[in-house]
Amino acid sequence: MTHADERYLEAKRTVDDRALNRRVRDHLVEELPEAPRVLEAGAGTGVTVPRLLDWGVTAGHYRGVDRDAGVLDVARERRCAELDGDRTESGFRVDDLTVRFDRGDALDALSTDRGDVVVAQSFLDLVPIDEALDAFEAALDPGGLVYAPLTFDGETVFQPDHPADDRVVAAYHDDIDARPGRDTHAGRQLLDRCRGREGDVLAVGASDWIVRPRGGEYPADERYFLATILAFVESAVDVPGIDAWLRTRRRQLDEGTLIYVAHGYDVCYRAP
Ligand SMILES: C[S@@+](CC[C@H](N)C(=O)[O-])C[C@H]1O[C@@H](n2cnc3c(N)ncnc32)[C@H](O)[C@@H]1O
Repeated sequence: MTHADERYLEAKRTVDDRALNRRVRDHLVEELPEAPRVLEAGAGTGVTVPRLLDWGVTAGHYRGVDRDAGVLDVARERRCAELDGDRTESGFRVDDLTVRFDRGDALDALSTDRGDVVVAQSFLDLVPIDEALDAFEAALDPGGLVYAPLTFDGETVFQPDHPADDRVVAAYHDDIDARPGRDTHAGRQLLDRCRGREGDVLAVGASDWIVRPRGGEYPADERYFLATILAFVESAVDVPGIDAWLRTRRRQLDEGTLIYVAHGYDVCYRAP
């Protein structure tokens, strides 16, 4: 199970919709030029494109880069169908917005492009932050924007309480932090790194994922989203009691009683 699992990314969409910080989003939209050139790092299944249209960005150019070919196929096909777009070779066109998806390492691929804004959603906890900010600034015209919503920041909560929670969550975070480029405190680090740069932090706000059942059922495909989170924990954690913890959490998920919270930050930064 990886962060590029297509069903996981699609299931994450409704969770993200609830979590995205409206104030930071509004600030971003106010600052965008007419017909902006939007670049996205780690575009996944392309869910930013319908959001841009919802926010009134119906003209300009969008280019999403991801290193996973499978999610980009889904982005091209599913977003084009959802938005009733006209297919092009590497994407589609909808209203006056041209959309293309390219495979590559975002930290290299974007620096050869020019944009008004770089979007990096649920991305900056996966890569070295300074390297990413250098690449984004290189891709932006002076005064261009970095919009980094849903940047994970080190709080993972499962409810109802379980006696092994602290041990399991600590081991889960330790495993993430041991992986190259990854950081469970990426949200606060991002804020610090932006403040230490030449540009300006325009807006910052919390964007916590909160997944909870209603009447024993989870909205949309969020049961799958939670099953994937538990699979991430299973593959990362090897502490006494983990098997019993996972059995309890999976039973709660089946019964529709499991709640999950992950703390994140949305940041909007203007490059010098
Ligand atoms: C957690 S997913 C988020 C996807 C999308 N932004 C969203 O929020 O739905 C992270 C994505 O970043 C991609 N990714 C990770 N590191 C990358 C890199 N260095 N260059 C390009 N894509 C990368 C993964 O393949 C995955 O699709």
